[in-house]
Amino acid sequence: MKLALLIILFPALTLIFSACGNSETTGKVDFVSDNISFAVEQYSLQTALIEESGKVLNPKTIDNGKIRYINPEEWTSGFFPGSMWYLYELTGDSKWMLLGAKYTEALNTVQYLTWHHDVGFMIGCSYGNGLRLSGNEAYKDVIVQAAKSLSTRYRPVAGILQSWNVDRGWQSERGWECPVIIDNMMNLELLFDATEYTGDSSFYHIAVMHADKTMEHHFRPDFSTWHVIDYSLADGSVRNKHTAQGFAHESTWARGQAWAIYGYTVAYRKTGDPRYLDQAENAFAFVANHPNLPEDGVPYWDFDAPGIPDALRDASAAAIIASALYELSTYSTKTDYRTWADKIITSLGSPAYRALPGENGNFLLKHSVGSIPHNSEVDVPLNYADYYFLEALKRKKDLDHVIQKTNG
Ligand code: GLY
Repeated sequence: MKLALLIILFPALTLIFSACGNSETTGKVDFVSDNISFAVEQYSLQTALIEESGKVLNPKTIDNGKIRYINPEEWTSGFFPGSMWYLYELTGDSKWMLLGAKYTEALNTVQYLTWHHDVGFMIGCSYGNGLRLSGNEAYKDVIVQAAKSLSTRYRPVAGILQSWNVDRGWQSERGWECPVIIDNMMNLELLFDATEYTGDSSFYHIAVMHADKTMEHHFRPDFSTWHVIDYSLADGSVRNKHTAQGFAHESTWARGQAWAIYGYTVAYRKTGDPRYLDQAENAFAFVANHPNLPEDGVPYWDFDAPGIPDALRDASAAAIIASALYELSTYSTKTDYRTWADKIITSLGSPAYRALPGENGNFLLKHSVGSIPHNSEVDVPLNYADYYFLEALKRKKDLDHVIQKTNG
């Protein structure tokens, strides 16, 4: 009798509960909606400029007050197309899908790139999101080809993918033989995906080898990370433990730690191996318990940066960590990862970090750093800070929706 009553009343109750939680009825705009509206406004200005130019441009940051556009071979070229896809996913507006496809397909040649390791970022954020959201099967071929290109950098003697070449640029001046950076964990998703699409387990095998070696050599006992591990190509031994973008070899570069948290979360998603989950959780515990983590959850550019508390923050590291924590919250309740992620993106969405419409080169977030030791991209917007902020918003939106449904 009671059950029958509930079944009859359920649709009405659902309506009442959802109306109670509906920002339109309460007159308040919720955090996610407000940030989506802002992103639409800001990136509409950004894309209008590009479309007016008649070229396909790829904005990365601002340099001396001007938007800096990058070429497809730059490691960050996938983020702006990826942000188009997230805007499509967040709004359902097909304008963003068309732009996503256009800017993604401008990266077509990247699938053959073999001179650095970043094809995972570049192709995953662009073609990977494009495949997920448009279902364009031709994008699968690009992803698989990119995975083949990345696999050429596998060095079996050391069991890792070489990050940087050492025959030119500043990397040639450091005495390295086979440098691997913690960031490289982010390229493994491409390899896992390629195995899913082809059934060829060699990509998966390389990804697992790399994740295991990185776990062995890149982490200190407190689960902080070295940025660069330089391997011997003769016997695979570790030659150097260095930094490139951090303050010192023995310091902890904030974005490197963010890549570690995110990278091992993905490695766990793709393999189900609990060691990777532990690694992601321990890497985040280092951040969460660090006395130098500011109250707003947005890290200084290095946990040991000189001049703390006046050192610069890195909003990009914060956005990466927040996005990873939303995913981690779906795998573990050991820590309240979701509350941590909410706290971080609330900070990023506040006036302290979020730009005003039309300023900041039409990027969303202010106050990121590219590389302080290279005096490059210091306290600027960066396209990857925006990308991971949008991804975090999407993940928050999904999780909030699940909670609302459960409560309803
Ligand atoms: N992957 C390069 C960086 O995080 O700066």
